[in-house]
Amino acid sequence: MTYARITGTGGHLPDKVLTNHDLERMVDTSDDWIRERTGISKRHIAVDGETTCDLAEQASRRALEAAGRTADEIDLVIVATTTPDQIFPSTACLLQQRLGIHGCAAFDIQAVCTGFVYALGVADKFVRTGSASCVLVVGAETLSRIVDWTDRSTCVLFGDGAGAVVLEASEEPGIISAHLHADGDYESLLRVPGGVSKGYDLVQEGGAYMEMKGNEVFKMAVTTLGRIVDETLEANGLEKSDIDWLIPHQANIRIINATARKLRMSTERVVVTVGEHGNTSAASVPLALDQAVRDGRVKRGETILMEAFGGGFTWGSVLLKY
Ligand code: ACO
Repeated sequence: MTYARITGTGGHLPDKVLTNHDLERMVDTSDDWIRERTGISKRHIAVDGETTCDLAEQASRRALEAAGRTADEIDLVIVATTTPDQIFPSTACLLQQRLGIHGCAAFDIQAVCTGFVYALGVADKFVRTGSASCVLVVGAETLSRIVDWTDRSTCVLFGDGAGAVVLEASEEPGIISAHLHADGDYESLLRVPGGVSKGYDLVQEGGAYMEMKGNEVFKMAVTTLGRIVDETLEANGLEKSDIDWLIPHQANIRIINATARKLRMSTERVVVTVGEHGNTSAASVPLALDQAVRDGRVKRGETILMEAFGGGFTWGSVLLKY
């Protein structure tokens, strides 16, 4: 049996840092409120001219180096992003060009904060079916571009960044299972209403920015992530105690803690970056993985549960042996 196994990870954050104290000078908020309600103390923001592909390129180069692979060995590129550089070509094609990769399939996946989990699930299918053997899977965002910096209920939450993995065919696991879901009925709770096809009048009225009914999204996220944990364990006949690491989407420390409680996991077994990164959407899970791999917490052979929830709504999980 062929599995898809992560052989290298990489991450990259823009240099510019925006602290809660900086935000206090921009909107009616406080460091205390942001920390207490979200766990966030700072986030990284791309400067003018710094794009999603720029961040993706740096993260990808690190992942390739960690895997001991060169760009010409990659036979599929998938980029999960909600904030592509341009309408087309896809950010995956732009990234291919930057890295000097030619000819293999390359495409973007748009599942907002669940994007990386979706991308990993799709890449896994390519590897298992023999359609690809060395895949670059990236989550990269410049979410700051779709944040209304005058709206205190959303602007304190988000940040920019990129994370990447190299996924290779292997006899040993590897990704064990991926569980992907969506329900478009909840569009009104979390969205950017403007867009190419709907038109730019809406955009001029502020529709180019994220709108979120935070409290309702919060409740849905907690219950849905609880369900995806149960689904993943049941599908694999595992107990909660079989999971070594929870690597959750980094939206809010209270949502992360609720999922950790559901798994009866101690906080030392949960990788948390939300305090330093904010919510980087599709980049949050691979950035957290990369941090935990590089600081030596996550070790080869350990069992990791990744989960995410985001706009769509979309949600999903990936269970893997690192
Ligand atoms: N500073 C100070 N006060 C604020 C701020 C702020 N930045 N933002 C909101 N408030 C106020 C509100 O106006 C409200 O005041 P009121 O009681 O006078 O009306 C009060 O704080 C409480 O607001 P709530 O929205 O009820 O606060 P809550 O505890 O729900 O926290 C938060 C808000 C942090 C947004 C939370 O609901 C949350 O994290 N939601 C989920 C976000 C998420 O996970 N999104 C999913 C992924 S995003 C994606 O897919 C792109």
